This record gives sequence, C-alpha cells and structure tokens, in this order.
Amino acid sequence: MDLQQTKMQTKSQNDFLKIIRPDDWHLHVRDGAVLAAVLPHTARQFSRALVMPNLKPPITTTALALAYRQRILAAIPFGRAFEPLMTLYLTNDTSADEIARAQDSGVIVGIKLYPAGATTNSDAGVTDLRQCAAALEMMQKLGLPLLVHGESADPAVDIFDREKVFIDTVLAPLRSDYPALKVVFEHITTKEAAEYVAQADTVRTGAIGATITPQHLLFNRNAMLAGGIRPHYYCLPVLKRETHRQALLAAAVSGSPRFFLGTDSAPHTKQAKENACGCAGCYTASHAMELYAQVFDEAHALDKLEGFASFYGADFYQRPRNTDTLTLTRQDWQVPAELRVESEVIVPLGANDTLRWQCVYA
Ligand code: DOR
Ligand code: ZN
Repeated sequence: MDLQQTKMQTKSQNDFLKIIRPDDWHLHVRDGAVLAAVLPHTARQFSRALVMPNLKPPITTTALALAYRQRILAAIPFGRAFEPLMTLYLTNDTSADEIARAQDSGVIVGIKLYPAGATTNSDAGVTDLRQCAAALEMMQKLGLPLLVHGESADPAVDIFDREKVFIDTVLAPLRSDYPALKVVFEHITTKEAAEYVAQADTVRTGAIGATITPQHLLFNRNAMLAGGIRPHYYCLPVLKRETHRQALLAAAVSGSPRFFLGTDSAPHTKQAKENACGCAGCYTASHAMELYAQVFDEAHALDKLEGFASFYGADFYQRPRNTDTLTLTRQDWQVPAELRVESEVIVPLGANDTLRWQCVYA
C-alpha cells in the first residue's frame, strides 16, 4: 500500500465530494498550440464546455464554427469523453439565415453578443443592437439563446458601472423588445446583475440565466489593487467591491437554477498579462472545480455545488444532465506558480495559494 492509499483510507466520508460531472458554460480555449495545451485541462474536469467565439478573426459563421469544432475535437486527449458546444459571434451583419444554419448544425447552442470595444477581440462586435433585429427575431423564433457580455461599451461610462448601465440601457429594453428571447447574462459581477436575474419575470418573457466565474466568487477588487497592482486578477468585467462579491456568492449558493457555472477561463501568456497594457482574463481551467469547491466550502454550501456546477446549466440549455461523476477530496495543495504552454507560460489564478479541495482523477 503506498502513501497515497494510506492517506485516502484515513479520510472520512466528509472528506470526499462526489458529484455528477460538471459542465463549463463559458470557456475560452483559443486555437493552435494554446488550444492543444489548455483543452486537456478542461476535459479533465468537465464533460462539456461552451466555447467562446472571440478568436482573431472571430467565429461569425456556422462554417467557421464547424471547422473550429474539428480543431477542438482533435485536441481532446485520447480516450477522454468531452463535448465542445459552439457559439457564433454576433455582428451587425449576422443574417437570419446564418442563425437558422447555426441552429440546424446541432452543435451551435448560443449566439454571443460582444458590444464592440467592450473586451478582448470585441472590435468586430455589435455597435448597435438595432442592426441585429433580423438575427434576434430568428433566435427568438428558434429558441437559440443570446449570450451577453453585459457591459456598456460607452467609453464615457466608468468601468465599475458598465454592467449596471448595460442592464438599464441594453438588457432590459432587449428583453422587452424580444419577449421570448432566451438570454444568458454571462460572468455577472454585481449585486444589480444578480438581483436582475433572480427577479426577472420569465412568465411573460423568455428564460434568463447567468454564469458566475470562480474569480468573481473568490475575490473582490482589493485582490487586484491593494498593496500593488496584480495583473493576474484582471479580467473583464473587472472585479468589484466586496458587497458585490457577497451578492454573487449568495446567488451561487441559493439553489436557484438561474445561476450556473461558467469559468470564463481565458488563457493569456504571463508576458501578455505582466505588461504595461495587460490583457484581461484569468486562467482557471486547470483547477476550476477546486476553486469553486473552496468558495462553496467557505460558504458552508458544498451541498449546493452539484446543482450549480452540473445540473442547472444543462437544464437551461436543454441538454441531458451528465451521468458520470467527478470526485474531489479534502486535501490541501498548492496552485503552481506557472503552467508551461509550449515555449510560453501561463500563470493560473491563485498561483502559489493553498486550496483545500483537490480533484481525484481516475
Ligand atoms: O477577462 C476576459 N477575458 N473577459 C472577456 O470578456 C474576454 C476574455 C478573453 O477572451 O480573454
Ligand atoms: Zn469570456
């Protein structure tokens, strides 16, 4: 019997958490060598992931999404069951026919709205939603959800207010103009967004859901700005003050099926992050479930993790719940300082921190 087995045997039942295998409903995997390096991390923890389309150039057509999906399939480690679910990048020019083609593909499950200029590779995004009327009508008709990067792109709006302004000026009018449109409010970061989603009327209007990232559950903006500027905590929407973090945490552990897991894991090289103009994004694919388990444990809500991570997203997207499982064990471990990606390095979120839970891989 080796040391690992001995340790396992002295653990009690409370030291294991076995849940239905989770899905990641918001993920960036990039392309090429980075894709090959990061996808195995996600495929180790999650059964499915919804892949964001903000490549350069963006995935704006079904044909591009199908080709990208093939490259992702080729990056899955041999023998591992993993399903990439695809998205299209909405532009002012997306036609109703393109939306119909996306739906017919069977593998595109959402259309992503990036307000132009709001975030990484959003330059080709939407400058005015009125330009997208035909596409939105078709999505509403087909039941294909709109996934929103929910920040105002108005440069005059303070960066900490952009999510709230988006709700008032874009999201609320959109949902009343397209009353049957299904919407996912991605990576929410504020009390206002959590309240909006929790209280939204879905009797007269379409379903609404929201994803929440590990960084927005674990950290407030002090982690990024107090005592020195820490670029590895910089993502968009940017971390907010503690009251907002608490509201997000309350939403995540509430058991409401409107809130579900989406890591927004976004690989950037160490050099691109530790830069005079550092890129937005936190890398969490390598230890996402450990991060979520940490925060649910701190909130004494480990019993709510499975619904959030494994059920509610699948239900929202009308996909079958997974049947296989993932086990975590209570075991202190240290997040590595760096991860090697080809000739580059990526710094994972919480580098060098000690986490309490660790995934057990078969
Ligand atoms: O922090 C972020 N990084 N937010 C986004 O919206 C995009 C993402 C990325 O692609 O790097
Ligand atoms: Zn994202």
